[in-house]
Formats: sequence, C-alpha cells, structure tokens
Amino acid sequence: MNVVILAAGQGKRMRSDLPKVLHRLGGQPLLTHVLETARELGARKICVVYGHGGEIVRECYADAEVVWVKQEPQLGTGHAVLQALPHLDPTTATLVLYGDVPLIASATLSRLCEVAGAGLGVLTVEMANPSGYGRIVREDGKILCIVEERDASEDQRTITEINTGFVIAPTTALSRWLPGLGNNNAQGEYYLTDIVRLAIEEGMPVASAQPDADWEVLGVNSKVQLAELERIYQNGNALRLMEQGVALADPARLDVRGELDCGRDVTIDVNCIFEGRVVLDDGVEVGANCVLRNTRVGAGTRIAPFSHIDDAEIGPRCIIGPYARLRPGTKLDESVHVGNFVEVKNSLIGENSKANHLSYVGDATVGKNVNIGAGTITCNYDGANKYRTVIEDDVFIGSDTQLVAPVTVGRGATLGAGTTLTSDAPPEQLTISRTKQVSISKWKRPVKQKKN
Ligand code: UD1
Ligand code: CA
Repeated sequence: MNVVILAAGQGKRMRSDLPKVLHRLGGQPLLTHVLETARELGARKICVVYGHGGEIVRECYADAEVVWVKQEPQLGTGHAVLQALPHLDPTTATLVLYGDVPLIASATLSRLCEVAGAGLGVLTVEMANPSGYGRIVREDGKILCIVEERDASEDQRTITEINTGFVIAPTTALSRWLPGLGNNNAQGEYYLTDIVRLAIEEGMPVASAQPDADWEVLGVNSKVQLAELERIYQNGNALRLMEQGVALADPARLDVRGELDCGRDVTIDVNCIFEGRVVLDDGVEVGANCVLRNTRVGAGTRIAPFSHIDDAEIGPRCIIGPYARLRPGTKLDESVHVGNFVEVKNSLIGENSKANHLSYVGDATVGKNVNIGAGTITCNYDGANKYRTVIEDDVFIGSDTQLVAPVTVGRGATLGAGTTLTSDAPPEQLTISRTKQVSISKWKRPVKQKKN
C-alpha cells in the first residue's frame, strides 16, 4: 500500500520553534514513530506532506526513503492528500496517517485495511465527550457521511462515534474524488472526510474498524498532551517488560527512550532511564536513579543507585556504583568493581580489578586483579594530546596516585600512596615518589595576634 502522513499543521499550541512532529516521545521524534508504523505495515511508498518550516523536518530524515511533498497554503486534509497523489502507486490502496498521532498500532491499521477490502475504510471510536471531532453519521448501521463539528446540526452533535482521521481508500478512487472536493463548509477547507459521501454515491462499500485501545488515536497539540502520551507510551514499555519477567519497583517510574532488552530475573528500581539500545543480561540489578545509554550489562551485575553509564560494555558479576560514571569506550571484564565517584572513560579494566573510590581512569588498559586506591588519577591529557596508561596484572596502586601518561606499571608492581608516576614502574617492585617525611621538634604553632 501507499502511506500518506499528514504533517503540515503548524502546531502553534506547542509554543515552540521546533516543528511539532519533531517533538520527542520515548526519545524519538513523533514522526519517527509514525514512519516506523508505516514500515511495519510494509508500505510500498511513504509520502510525508509537510508545510511551513518543514524543511527542518526533511533534513532530519535525509536518508529515509520518503517522498516529501510541500503543501502551501494549507487548505485542509483533503487538499493535503491531493498534493501527495501524483507520487502514489495507483495500483494499490492509500492509507492516511498523521505525523502528530504517534501511538497508532500497526495491528489496528492492519485490521482497518482488512475490513476495507477494495472499498473505503474509516477508523472510528466511541467518545463520551466527542466535542471537536468529526461525527460518524449512520443510517440503519451503515455509514452515510462524516460531518465536522462546526458543520453539524444539534442532533448530529449528540453522536458519540467520532472520526479518528485514519482512512484507507483505493488510490484510483482518491484520484477521482480529491480534485473535485469543494470547500463550501464552516471552515472553508477541503475536507478529506467528504470522500465518504462520494464513495457512497458511487456505491462503493464503506467499512469501519476500531482501535484496540482508544489512546492509539490521540494526537499531540500541546505540551500537556505530549506528556500524557509519553506516560501512556512508557506504561506500555513497563507492561511489556513485566510480562517478560522483569521486576519493576514501580512501573510508573520507568523511562525507556529506545530499546531495552532484558534477560531473566532482571530487577529495576525506580526512576531509571534507558536510552538508545540497552541490554541487561540475566539477574542484573539496576538501582534507583540510574541512567544507562547504549550499554550492555553482563549477567549478575549489580548497578547501585545514581550511576550514569554511556556507551559501555560491562561484564558479568560486576559491582558498579553508587555514583559511578562510565563514559564511552569503557569495557569492564568479569567481576570488576567500580565504586562511588569513580569515572572511567575509554578504558579496559580486566577481571577482578577494583577502583572503589574517587578515581579517574581515562584512556587506560588495566589488567586483572588490580587494586586502584582511592583518589587515583590517570593524567591522560597534557592540554594538547591524550596518552594511554597501561597497568598490568596484579598491580597495587596506593591512594592519591597520579599516573602521568604515557606510562606503564609493570606486572605485580606496587605504587606507594601519593606517588606521581612520570616514568614506567618496573614489575614486582615498590615504586614511590614522595618527599621524605620530616618532623620539626622546635616548631611552634602560630598564635592569633591580639587586636588593640
Ligand atoms: C480532522 C478530521 C475530523 C477528525 C479529526 C481527528 C477533516 C476534515 N476532519 O479534523 O473529522 O475528527 O481530524 O483529529 O479531516 N493537515 C495538513 N494539511 C492541512 C490540514 C491538516 O497536513 O491543510 C494535517 C494536520 O497537520 C493534522 C491533521 O492533518 O496532523 C489533522 O488536521 P486538523 O486541522 O487537526 O483536523 P481537524 O480539524 O482536527
Ligand atoms: Ca485536530
């Protein structure tokens, strides 16, 4: 089928310089959700109708296989679909979607296509308060027409079955109908909804379907509605994860802005955010208030609260945090401990090694069974270039040590606390750089002077 996505509306009520369809839901622009749904349906051609300021939207989807059609001025939904018509494949049907209605499910749309067959299909819902929507006018159960609220009679306004806007029609029929639409109505617009009457005049069957959930057809017109849809979307993520066996401390306090894959017996505490693609293997525990982005976490690893992890690969049975920060390029082997206020960047840390307190490990290769004492810093940057630090297996680094890269600490070496290492430390030896300790016996503490 062809899919036409209407996205020309300005979205004034968003009160934003950003075009409406670029506002994000679950970390992705609204339009991305709709495009994904169109692809799930196997759309042969996807045509986006954009309007004023829409060039920014086009640029965001430069590589997408989408036909962009500018509608200017915007004379109504019927006029919008008319602009797309020359780009559509006439041998197949055309489904109309909306760039600002992101939660529509492909299952619902498939059902709409099915009931429509070779005729016209309209997606409708029952609404206790239908005000603002087009009403579905039926006679003996059969759809007669759709009447917009502003054109409706008092009687018609009491109808609670509304038009969601989603329709599917044979493309050749649209070519017959759309050029002839009039705009003699309350809004002076070319209404797409008028095609229902035209179909019936031709004796074409008009069928209707309903979405699985009413929220699928909710649109975004304001920040309030965007936030409402965000919670609906996140609730869906939470339910799906729990059904897969993930234990969520509170499904209302989870945000997945991308893809989260979990193994068995994964536990996630409150207020965690997952961005990009995150994989949590079996038995992983994520503490409260963690942010994980594009990261894989190995089985049995525990991430304590307030940890921030970005573009990292964490092995099994590690203990991370609380308050750990793992930056891009971090790779932790099995059973590594990275404790509180430790920052790791672009570094490999080998099996069973520990950096438990207040350290910076950047551009480093750390072997197995290494102990990095509190306050250790890899000085990887001289103000112009960055250099690597290599710490071999079984090294013990005393607290408050600076490793001025490039530098290597040989296997089994010990660095005394407070060392500033500027050249390589040989294996198995104690290396220490520290001024000799002295005690001055005659020294007197200064006394506060009296003011007169
Ligand atoms: C439309 C339907 C109404 C339905 C409602 C559901 C028509 C005539 N009416 O009304 O029956 O109940 O949606 O929300 O279709 N758009 C364009 N170009 C235009 C006009 C609109 O691209 O010239 C796009 C908008 O960006 C928006 C969508 O079409 O995404 C709907 O337009 P809107 O003006 O909100 O239609 P409604 O008046 O709400
Ligand atoms: Ca609307």
